[in-house]
Parts: sequence; structure tokens; C-alpha cells
Amino acid sequence: MGATILDGKALAAEMRADLKTSVARLATAGVVPGLGVLLVGDDPASRSYVTAKEKACADCGIHSQEIRLPADATRQDILDVVDGYNADDRIHGILVQLPLPDAAMEQDVIAAIDPNKDVDGFHPTNIGRMLLGLPAFLPCTPYGILKLLQRSGQPVAGAHAVIVGRSNIVGRPLANLLTLKNELGNATVTVCHTGTRDVGYHTRQADIVIAAAGRPGTVTADMVKEGAVVIDVGVNRVEDASRPRGYRLVGDVDFDAIKEKAAAITPVPGGVGPMTITMLLYNTVESAERGQVAKA
Ligand code: GUN
Repeated sequence: MGATILDGKALAAEMRADLKTSVARLATAGVVPGLGVLLVGDDPASRSYVTAKEKACADCGIHSQEIRLPADATRQDILDVVDGYNADDRIHGILVQLPLPDAAMEQDVIAAIDPNKDVDGFHPTNIGRMLLGLPAFLPCTPYGILKLLQRSGQPVAGAHAVIVGRSNIVGRPLANLLTLKNELGNATVTVCHTGTRDVGYHTRQADIVIAAAGRPGTVTADMVKEGAVVIDVGVNRVEDASRPRGYRLVGDVDFDAIKEKAAAITPVPGGVGPMTITMLLYNTVESAERGQVAKA
């Protein structure tokens, strides 16, 4: 029997319809949620992610503003943009698209973002609050995965989730969120990474496999147990001369083989990606709503 396809695109559309109601409510108080975007350099994948995020903002009535800097922008150039967004009352959320051309700057830049506008959930304050189970902006991809599992009725509490990948953006925050004792988590978690001796040994025991390694073919069918739920976070461009753009997008898992074995699986594209964008919109609207509460 084939796996259920976990349709992130459809769920994202439903959630964005709900967000429009929140945006309309804010409008009655004269508030338009605003997202300030900073894109440094000209990486084509980053460019297309940012365009998708800005288009999603426009569709939901969220104002977005973009500043682009060249790849050789200095640390100070970048910090000046962040400071400008921090000080701008029309901006409720700040998105600095990662990776930066100079990865060594990333932690300083993230730390400069006002934690109250950190809608990516990357600032140490939000990461710390997340770890403690306190209210915080949650990183968008992990948050989107948890919402996708919850809304599609996949049991997480008590499940063994095995994550492949330990990035600061996905693997590590997701591992922490899954362990929290709340309605989205309460799972048992294993994190595999480049230092793991036998990744398949771990993934074969998983009720939920989450592949977030950024490499096609990371999870193959022999690494997944019958009836598992498979979440594919990878978005990899592979050359394909038959496509108009000369490439196609593939995830980190062998979708065609695994869908014959798994109970449920996310497609690429159309799985996790639209959920990531939706949670960014959600956090931005929440930030605007928090501003209203603070004023009341
Ligand atoms: N690069 C890859 N994913 C993300 C994300 O969720 N936010 C930002 N800012 N950069 C990213």
C-alpha cells in the first residue's frame, strides 16, 4: 500500500486563510504586520526563498520590505540594516536570510536582532526560551513540521523520532521541541549526524524519520521501517536538462522507493517548504499582535 502524502501546500493554504482573518482584525486597529527582509549576496536559492516569502506576505496582507546588500558587505553594513529594522515601528519581524556569504558573521548578526522581532526564532534569547518551554518565537521549519504532523493526525507523543542532521536551523531546535512535554511534542528523540557510525541502524527503529541533512539520497528505503512517517526537509537542486530552468528539486530521501513502505511521507516540493513560510507569516502576525497587547 502506498503512503499517505502529507500535503504541506494544502495545509499551508488553510493556515494562511486563518492568518488573513488575524491580519484583518489588526487592520481594524490600524496595524499592518510588517516583515523586514535582508538578503546579502546573490545565491540563487536564497533569492528564490526570499521571493517566495515576500509573495506569501503579500498574499496574506503582510507588508514586506527588502534590503539587498552585495556579497562583500561588511559586518557593519549588515548590522546597520538590522538596527534600522529594530528601530522601525512598521517592522514587526526581521528576516536575515541565511547562509550569509561570510558564515563567521552569522551569530553576531542574529544576536543584533531585537528578540521581540526575531520571527525566525534564531536569537539566543528565543532559543533559550524554547529550550525551557517558555513562550518564544519558534524556528519556522521545526515549527512547521510539528504543525504538519499535528494537523495531519500523525501521533508524536510517545513516538521515537530520529532526525538526520544537526543544523542550528532545523535538526537541533526540532530535537528540542520534540522532547517538550506539550501537545506538539513528548516524543523520544535520536539525532544522527556526520559523526554517527551507522545512521540506518537508528532510522530503522524510528516511528518518525526526519531527514534534514541537505544531501540527496541521505535516507534510502532500507533505512526506514514499514509504516514509518517520513519527513523530508531537504531542498536540493539537481541538474536536469529536460527542465526549463535546467534543474529540478529533490529532497534528502528516496521518495519513490520509500512511499511504498512508509505510512506517510512529505513530497519535495510541496511538503515542508510551504509550512516553513507559513510559520514565518504566523510569527510575524503574532509579533504585530503582541505589540498591540503591549500598548493596551
Ligand atoms: N535559510 C534556510 N532556512 C532559513 C530560514 O528558515 N530562515 C532564514 N533566515 N534563513 C534560512
